Parts: sequence; C-alpha cells; structure tokens
Amino acid sequence: MPTACDDTATPMKASQFFISTLKEAPADAEVASHQLMLRAGFIKRLSAGIYTYMPMGLRVIRKIEGIVRQEMNAAGAIELLMPVVQPAELWQESGRFQKYGPELMRVKDRHDRDFVIQPTSEEVITDIARQELRSYRALPRNFYHIQTKFRDERRPRFGVMRGREFTMKDAYSFDRDLDAARLSYDAMYAAYVRIFSRMGLVFRAVAADNGSIGGIRSHEFQVIAETGEDAIVYSAESEYAANIELAEAVAPAAPRAAPSLPLAKTATPGASSCEAVAELLGLPLTQTVKSLVLATDQVATEGQAPNSTVWLLLVRGDHALNEVKAGKLPGLAAGFRFATVAEIESHFGCKPGYLGPIETVRPVRLVVDRAVAAMSDFVCGANEAGYHCTGVNWGRDLPEPELIADIRNVVEGDPSPDGHGVLQIQRGIEVGHVFLLGSHYSKSMNATYLNEGGKQQLLEMGCYGIGITRILGAAVEQNHDARGMIWPQAIAPFEIVICPIGYERSPAVKKAADDLYEALVASGVDVMLDDRGERPGAMFADWELVGVPHRVVLSDRGLKAGEIEYQGRRDVQASNVAATEVQAFVKAKLAA
Ligand SMILES: Nc1ncnc2c1ncn2[C@@H]1O[C@H](COP(=O)(O)OP(=O)(O)OP(=O)(O)O)[C@@H](O)[C@H]1O
Ligand SMILES: [Mg+2]
Repeated sequence: MPTACDDTATPMKASQFFISTLKEAPADAEVASHQLMLRAGFIKRLSAGIYTYMPMGLRVIRKIEGIVRQEMNAAGAIELLMPVVQPAELWQESGRFQKYGPELMRVKDRHDRDFVIQPTSEEVITDIARQELRSYRALPRNFYHIQTKFRDERRPRFGVMRGREFTMKDAYSFDRDLDAARLSYDAMYAAYVRIFSRMGLVFRAVAADNGSIGGIRSHEFQVIAETGEDAIVYSAESEYAANIELAEAVAPAAPRAAPSLPLAKTATPGASSCEAVAELLGLPLTQTVKSLVLATDQVATEGQAPNSTVWLLLVRGDHALNEVKAGKLPGLAAGFRFATVAEIESHFGCKPGYLGPIETVRPVRLVVDRAVAAMSDFVCGANEAGYHCTGVNWGRDLPEPELIADIRNVVEGDPSPDGHGVLQIQRGIEVGHVFLLGSHYSKSMNATYLNEGGKQQLLEMGCYGIGITRILGAAVEQNHDARGMIWPQAIAPFEIVICPIGYERSPAVKKAADDLYEALVASGVDVMLDDRGERPGAMFADWELVGVPHRVVLSDRGLKAGEIEYQGRRDVQASNVAATEVQAFVKAKLAA
C-alpha cells in the first residue's frame, strides 16, 4: 500500500533526477539535521537563513504539505493563497506595523509606499473576512494557505529550523462567539495531532504562552529532540504539559523556618556569583539569593523628562529568572530591559555581583520569587563590593516582601501545578502552534458580522501555524545515525530505492530492476531506481545519507540464486527475499 499522498509521489530514475552529495559536513553547520541536509543535497544556502530547497529536499516538503493539506481539508478548512508582499496600511490598522520588532521586513515600492513581507497573515485574512463574512450564515469559516514567510530573525541558525525565509501553513478561523471559536480551536488541535502522528514524529502538545496580544489559550506542538530550542515541562503522572515559559512554579508547601542565625556582613572577595559565594562559604546554593536588576521607561508626557524605574528581582541562587512571567507583572507588562551599569551603581551604590535588597542607595521596586519569600537565614549581596550578607531574614533584617510572585523557571522535581506528580523537563522543537485569538484583530480592524437579530458582532478568531520547512529539520534531529538521515516513510523523499549492482553491464540485473520498478510504480509506490551505474559502496552510502527507509539490492549473483536483498534503513542486517516474492514482500514492508 502506498502510504504517501498520491499526488506528491512521483517515482524517479536517478539518471533523470538530481542527486548531489558531499562526504564532509560543512564547517558552519552546528546540528545534525543542518549538516546532513547540506551533505545530502536537500538544501543550499544562499544567504543567512535563506535557502534553496534542492530537488531532493523539495520532495520532502511536498509530502509534508500533502499531509497538512489532506488533514486541514478533512477538518473543514478551506485553502486560498494570500500575497507575500502586503501593503502597510492594513498593518497600521492592526497596530502591528508599529509594534512588530525588527523581525518584520518593511520595504518600500517605487512610489515610496510602505509594504511588509508577511511573517503571518492575520491582517489580510481579517480584511477578507470583514468583506466576505458579513452574516452569521457565513460562519464558521477556517481559511488556510501554505505560503512563504519572511522574518528577519536576530539569529538565523540550524538551517531550515530557524530560517529567515521559510514556508508556513497558517490557518485562521472565524466564529460567531467564543464558544464556537473554541470548537474551531479544538478541531485544529485534533487535526494537528493527526498531522504530526502521520508524519511519524514523536511530539508533545504543550500549553503555551498567550503572547503579548493576549490570546485566550494556546498550545504548541513540540517535536522532542535534544537540540530543541524550547524547554518543555510535563508530569509523568498526569496530562500536564507546558512550555517552560508558562509552567507555574507552585509556592513552597512548607512554612518559612524561624531565623536561627544573626545578620552578618561577610567578606566574599572575588565571589560575584551565587555559585562562588556558596562554595566560598561552604553553603548549599539553595541558601543563596540572586539579584536581577531591570528597568522600565515611562514615556515622557508633555513638559516632563522621561523617567525610568529600577526593579530588583530576587530568585534563589539555583533558580533562573523567567522573563515571560516577569513580563506579565503589573509595571513590567508594558516592556522592560536589563538595567545599565550606571543605573545599578546609582541605585545600589555598588557594582554588579554584590547587589542585594538591604539598604539600597535609592529606592528600587522589589519583586520576590515565591521560593525566596519562603527562605530564612539566606545569603544575598551586601551592596558593597566584596561583601555579602549572611543570615538574612525577612521581617527582621528587611521588611516582609510586598510583591511576591512566580518569576522563575520550574526545575525538574518541582511539584506539578495540577497536583499530580513532579515535573520533568525535555527539549522540543516547535513545529506547530494553535492560538485562540479572540477579537483582538476583529476589534482593531472592525471585522463584524450581522447576527440573527440584525446586530453587528465582532468575529472571534483563532490562528494556527505549522512550520512546514522547520519540520524537515525536526524530523532529522529525531531520526538520524552516523550514516545519515532516516526519514519516516510518510515524508521520505522516496519510500524505497532499488539499487541494482551492474545495471549497465548485466542485462539480467537491468531487466529485473526495471521490472520491479515498473511493478512498484504501477502499485503507486514512490520508488527510486538508481540506474546511475555507481559502485555499490558509493551508491549505498548515498541512499543511507539521503535516508530512504527501504532498499532492495539486485545483483547477478543474487538473481542466479533466485534472491533479492532487502534492508530497512534501521535494520542492522540485510535479508534475502525470493525474487518471485519481492513485490509482495516490499508492499508488506511499506504497509507495516
Ligand atoms: N524562523 C523560522 N524558521 C522556520 N520556521 C519557523 C520560524 N519561525 C516560526 N516558524 C514556524 O512557524 C510556526 C508558527 O509560527 P509562530 O508565529 O507560532 O512562531 P514562533 O512562536 O515565533 O516561533 P519561534 O518561537 O520558534 O520563533 C512555528 O510553530 C514554527 O514551526
Ligand atoms: Mg509559536
């Protein structure tokens, strides 16, 4: 049974195709998928984060798109195609022209008019919706396209995983109210589970941050891989799974212990990190407190100078600040930055490395992590170079904290926020994102419909992305070995390769190979016949690098014995199959 989408499967002979492999990994490729895709001739770099998808790589892209299309259509979404270059006016209406950072590529045409190269298409689709979806009868609707995106990423890397130009499937749902929008969201979530399952990927759907535009709920689909840029958190004892950006660190259950040490100023020369202080004083790192200094800038009102506020955030020495959580606190939500050295010195009277909450020179806004609020006898900077305070206690040595918040990343072993089990952490590559937007765009762009009572109502929206080209990288990160890539069959460039030994010299081999090829083509198998006449070693190495999941080898010797050799890309050994059985054998393997 052919498992690929039939319209994306085009059987090939190597002599009519383009195969270009390299022995050595290019020096600047950091991760396996990037190295292997360059070596196997899947992609070719044109500029930072900008790649040509070479014929072999494009075959994989087409299969990924095929699965996405089938499942999106099956879920009731309708395909259209929106432009890559979009007029700035729509982006000004939504406010994103101003708000989007330097990732948004802004360009001018010959009339000096502003345009953007789309990083997503909320504005254009909302503009379509407000013209086309005017009545409740037109709802619900879900439109999608598979289109080139551009984001001028600060650090394009890992090949197609974080490119600047890339392909995304983005879908947008429109509903009459939030309950209906939730159903659209759930349908997309279910479609994504099917899509990534069909692709043979090991993935996890995790709760994700709703972002600055204040969506209602969102999930990321993360392919599990060591090299993933995201940390994802889950409980083995429940369904709980979230991006670390979002995962709540619950407040310590035990009450704070009573003070047992006196406050003391202790010399800690040269020890400017919590690790160094703990080592010097022979204390556990969990007894130290880390100071992070942020600043917020108030916009200058008329006649007044712009004003900055300095913030001191405290987390335990072994914990890390979670900037997404911090960015949701009142006062920090409008945006913050790390304080400058000058700001630090003027507020703390001390250089970074020895900062703490006790007796700052000028007042700072203090935010205390839940874990720190529960500490006693702790160590923090003394606001004097070379010194730390030890035996510090809330209420006694400094006022009880006013603002206690969850501002740290969870760590393995923390209790799960749903109360079931403890948290574990793994790395993931975000390949998809479903997002319940609500009426953010319909409000700013005035996209309404008429309900049964003839009343204007805002459309409720969801948006749903899949990183088509990022999936190539993610699949290879998850599936490769020392010899090359190992494609899941559903998205492999070819399902099976026929490797005849001596195709050009042995008429028997040529006939058997051609016959098998024709038979598999007739049964709808996406097969490659390597008719280049390469030496076996080079031919096998090429296809192992390319990662075709199944291979049959035909040779004079084998055919004389009535046998053909089969090897799955993950098999340690080849097995012999009776030549008369080979078609049935291969079909069974492909169907498995
Ligand atoms: N620079 C990129 N290169 C390749 N694919 C990308 C890139 N940025 C986003 N994608 C893909 O597009 C999907 C939808 O876009 P979305 O706006 O959610 O990305 P994002 O959250 O900004 O991604 P990231 O956090 O990785 O930057 C992502 O889930 C991802 O698979
Ligand atoms: Mg995302």
